[in-house]
Amino acid sequence: MKMTGKTVLITGSTDGVGRHVAGKLAAEGANVLIHGRDEARAKTLADEIRREGHGEATFYPADLSSLADTRKLAETVIAEHKRLDVFISNAGIGSMSPKAERQLSADGHELRFAVNYLSGFLLARLLLPLLKASAPSRIVNVASLGQHPLDFDDVMLTRGYTGTRAYAQSKLAQIMFTIDLAQELAGSGVTVNALHPATYMNTTMVREGGITPISTVEQGGEAILHLADGDDMAGKSGLFFNGMQPLKANAQAYDGTARQRLRALSRKLTGLPAA
Ligand SMILES: NC(=O)c1ccc[n+]([C@@H]2O[C@H](COP(=O)([O-])OP(=O)(O)OC[C@H]3O[C@@H](n4cnc5c(N)ncnc54)[C@H](OP(=O)(O)O)[C@@H]3O)[C@@H](O)[C@H]2O)c1
Repeated sequence: MKMTGKTVLITGSTDGVGRHVAGKLAAEGANVLIHGRDEARAKTLADEIRREGHGEATFYPADLSSLADTRKLAETVIAEHKRLDVFISNAGIGSMSPKAERQLSADGHELRFAVNYLSGFLLARLLLPLLKASAPSRIVNVASLGQHPLDFDDVMLTRGYTGTRAYAQSKLAQIMFTIDLAQELAGSGVTVNALHPATYMNTTMVREGGITPISTVEQGGEAILHLADGDDMAGKSGLFFNGMQPLKANAQAYDGTARQRLRALSRKLTGLPAA
C-alpha cells in the first residue's frame, strides 16, 4: 500500500518498536499521529520526522490506563482528521514493567488488561466510523506469543496473579478481539490482524524485565509494517502472525463462546452499549 498522504495512528510510538514504526511510516510519506505520555520524547521524534522532510507528525498524549483519557484521544483524532487509514494498537506494558505486582487502572481494572487490551478495544470501536469512511483501511493489534486463556470468573486476576499471566491474558484478549472484529467487519473494507512482532526486542519493557534482548526493533517493526501496509495483506483479516508468518493462536481465540463473552464484558467495562 502506498503510504503517501495516508493517516496512521500508532499508540505507544514515543518509545520502543512503535517509535521505530512511526519513523518508517513517516519516511514512506504518511501523516503519523504519534501517541504516548511523554511530551519531550514525542517532540524529539516529531522533530526527527520533520527534519527528514517526509511525512507529517502530530503528538496526541493520553494515558491509556484511564478510559476517560482513551475516549478523549479517540474524540480528538475524530475531530481533527477527516480520514484514518491505519490504526496500530501498539502501546503496552510488560509482565514486569513498571513492576510485577498486581495494580489497578484509574477505572479499577487490572492494569495490564486495561492498558494492553481494553484501551485498544475502546479506541478501535470509537475510531471505527472514521476507519470505515476511509476504507480500504486496516487495524493492527500488536499482541504476543505470550498468551494465557481468560478465566471469565476472574478476569481481573484477584486470585493467582502473576505479571506474566496478566500480560499473557491481555495479549490473548487482543487476538480474540481481532478475530471477533474481523468477522463483524467482513465486507466493510476494514481489515484487522494481530501479531507477535519479534521475541525480546531491545525495548524498555524487555530491559525493565531484566531480560537480555535477542532481537531488534527493526525486526519487529518490519513485521508490524507488513500488516500495516504490505500489499499481500490487502483484504486479509482475522489472522495472527508470528513475525512475518501466519500462526495459530491459543485455542481460546477460536472459541466463539469465549469471544462473545469477552465482547460483552469489554462493552460493559468500557461503557459501550451491548451489541
Ligand atoms: N519487546 C518485545 O520483545 C515484545 C514482544 C512481543 C510483543 N511486544 C508488544 O509490542 C508492543 C510495544 O512494546 P515495546 O517492546 O516497544 O515496549 P516499550 O518500549 O516499553 O514501549 C511501550 C509504549 O507503550 C506506551 N505506554 C505504556 N503504558 C502506557 C499508558 N498507560 N498509556 C499510554 N501509553 C503507554 C509507552 O509510552 P511512554 O513512552 O509514555 O512510556 C511506550 O510508548 C507492546 O504491545 C508489547 O506487548 C513486545
